[in-house]
Amino acid sequence: MRILVTGGAGYVGFPLCQKLHRRGDHVIVVDSLATTAGREPALAAFADIKRVDITDRAACLSAIVEAEAEVVVHLAALHFIPDCNRRPADAVRINVLGTQNVLDGCAAAPSVRRVVVTSSAAVYPVSDCFMRETAKAEPSDIYGITKAVNEGQAAELARATGISTVAVRLFNVFGPGETNPHVVPAIIDQLRAGKHRLDLGNVSPKRCYVYVDDVVDGFEAIAGAVLPDRFTTLNLGTSEEASVGELIDMMSAMLATRLEVANDPERRRPSDRQYLRCDPTLIKSLTGWQANHSIQAGLRQLLASEQLL
Ligand SMILES: NC(=O)c1ccc[n+]([C@@H]2O[C@H](COP(=O)([O-])OP(=O)(O)OC[C@H]3O[C@@H](n4cnc5c(N)ncnc54)[C@H](O)[C@@H]3O)[C@@H](O)[C@H]2O)c1
Repeated sequence: MRILVTGGAGYVGFPLCQKLHRRGDHVIVVDSLATTAGREPALAAFADIKRVDITDRAACLSAIVEAEAEVVVHLAALHFIPDCNRRPADAVRINVLGTQNVLDGCAAAPSVRRVVVTSSAAVYPVSDCFMRETAKAEPSDIYGITKAVNEGQAAELARATGISTVAVRLFNVFGPGETNPHVVPAIIDQLRAGKHRLDLGNVSPKRCYVYVDDVVDGFEAIAGAVLPDRFTTLNLGTSEEASVGELIDMMSAMLATRLEVANDPERRRPSDRQYLRCDPTLIKSLTGWQANHSIQAGLRQLLASEQLL
């Protein structure tokens, strides 16, 4: 099968492309490589790379049409929330206009039969419930707003063209290879520097974490699933949650050392919801996917991959 992955050089995209290649797919990557250029040689070993900025409409459309892909997985985005808050116009330009270009490319490509658009748990309202896909989108920042718009754009593609389209509400991913300075890589960087007193922001909010290899398996399952509706919204995550403080306690036990937190006001996000909880029932029932890694197991693999264990 020919599969096109936008953002294929990124945190999720790179291992997804590797897995698709290993199972025998022909992988085409559309990526500007703006922040991930260092991965180009490794990616070029198994994927066709089209170095295209998705906000360049003409280049984006022709890259997608020429790829003759059956499946398009759209991951490219401005994703790091502090960056989106600092550069809201860029967040809208890349995430909304760029996504429209990708979807218009899919509509113009006769080969495409499944489009997977990456949304986010950030579309959910502030709540302590385990969120189901039926919950109304009520994002609380510009990033989440762009992702909620992406879901509408994806639904419109399905309605207008009949292409089977899925919006994936991805929860917090963790594991090796992270590209953005989220909290887990911030902890790892400090551990690698030999620190035991870690400078971190707010450590009390809880998140449902999903291990990166499970995310890759999830996208693979969604790309190939036979789905009853032309447009589907799916959570991709687990219902296992932890606070940053609890992650640090788990790592302390694994490393047999006492890690402490020094609260760093610079790292505190201005607004940080206490919970963002995932109900993964629907994805399991429609695709069979479920996570294989607990938070503990994923952390252990992460520490081992960093040679900290
Ligand atoms: N990582 C997470 O925890 C998480 C959680 C929820 C949703 N998501 C979503 O999943 C997707 C993938 O996230 P990720 O963590 O792999 O992000 P990432 O930042 O590692 O990768 C994004 C990739 O997109 C590319 N890109 C960015 N702007 C582009 C543009 N204008 N044109 C072409 N390529 C461009 C980058 O070069 C990069 O290779 C994103 O849509 C993100 O919003 C991620």
